[in-house]
Amino acid sequence: MNFEIPEGLTDLLQDFTVEVLRKRPADLLQFAAQYFDSLLEKRASDNAKSLLSKLSTANHAETNHVDEDDVYTDEDEMGEMPELPKGRFAAGGRRHSVAAEKYNPEEDTSEEPAVVHPKTDDERHYLLKTIGHIFIFRSLEKKQVDKVIDAMFGRHVQQGDVIIEQGDDGDNFYVIESGKYDIYVNKQKVGEYDQKGSFGELALMYNMPRAATIVAGSVGKLWALDRLTFKRIVLKSAFEKRKMYEQLLDNMPMFKSLNSYERMNVADALFSKSFSDGQSIIKQDEEAQCMYFIEHGMVRIVREQDGQSKEIKMCQKGDYFGELALLTKKPRAASAYAVGDDTKCAILDVDAFERLLGPCVKIMQKNIPDYEEQLRKLFGDKFSVADFEK
Ligand code: CMP
Ligand code: CMP
Repeated sequence: MNFEIPEGLTDLLQDFTVEVLRKRPADLLQFAAQYFDSLLEKRASDNAKSLLSKLSTANHAETNHVDEDDVYTDEDEMGEMPELPKGRFAAGGRRHSVAAEKYNPEEDTSEEPAVVHPKTDDERHYLLKTIGHIFIFRSLEKKQVDKVIDAMFGRHVQQGDVIIEQGDDGDNFYVIESGKYDIYVNKQKVGEYDQKGSFGELALMYNMPRAATIVAGSVGKLWALDRLTFKRIVLKSAFEKRKMYEQLLDNMPMFKSLNSYERMNVADALFSKSFSDGQSIIKQDEEAQCMYFIEHGMVRIVREQDGQSKEIKMCQKGDYFGELALLTKKPRAASAYAVGDDTKCAILDVDAFERLLGPCVKIMQKNIPDYEEQLRKLFGDKFSVADFEK
């Protein structure tokens, strides 16, 4: 019989054998299962990365097989956004073949809005307040936020207007000022927005067709941001932010237990906040909403007990804190204060903590006996170990 060795088999088995010889696992079968599982994870992660890298690389190669009319020209990109007709909100204004657009964020050094739409002070003030709560805008600096606001344009919608249609190319990102909006995926209603929220970021971020249809369920007002400004300012900043946080996480031993895709998700979920000298970051006994990773500066951890206030730890760059209350689901065990004016922390909120840090929980839990021991040393036996029990 003629056996043909499949391509890659020899390398695969050789690599596996080397790992077995290096690690000498007690349970070979379990080790094999984990080893091949992690290869699958890595492949998925690499695929995801290459998809995401489309955001930052030119798409010249993809202009093949595209009708002339469908190819965006620079004039398309820089010109006025088409007026959005009433009734069927975006009909006729839809544009196709995003894959063909000649836009490379790495080559495009401009951070200017594609088009500036003048606004009243009240409108600017309203947008400043509103977009501050939208996650993808959170890591923008003040001057970038101003430019995003310059580019946004308001649109009144009527009940029944189709604002986004699944499968179309992405034109704008939308922020809701008022109104209800139904979300349909494959013609099934999957949710709705009611007077607040934002939508339309996915197609712009991943250069993919729209993932859902959005229909106005009432009259309302939206603020739209055109695709080019979104990419130049919001996306570029999101990529820089990801790179920066990946570096931070790479230097934290706790994250070694996450694969690169999981680390990337954590990086995307982080946002930064700066604190001035002495500013309170965490208050003892309060309910916890997030945990912190120190990017710059130092943080003093202080606990008050029996009328005494004692410093229990000084944390520095690369340390994390505020995880305990999220692990135990108890109030904060201590307070945290910034030391120096240059203190900056990356923050992970409780939802992201629960969603993304599962593999790190055991590592974080290992600190608990040390915390207890520290407190016993400082406050004596009055400290109850049960304080940290789940
Ligand atoms: P985008 O794919 O650009 O356009 C449709 C938008 O609907 C999408 O971005 C999201 O912002 C939003 N959306 C809300 N819920 C969903 C969902 N379940 N699936 C996909 N998109 C959703
Ligand atoms: P959390 O209880 O959420 O908020 C206060 C944080 O201080 C706590 O999480 C820990 O991250 C940190 N901390 C550092 N040392 C101790 C300690 N000995 N006891 C309790 N918390 C500590």
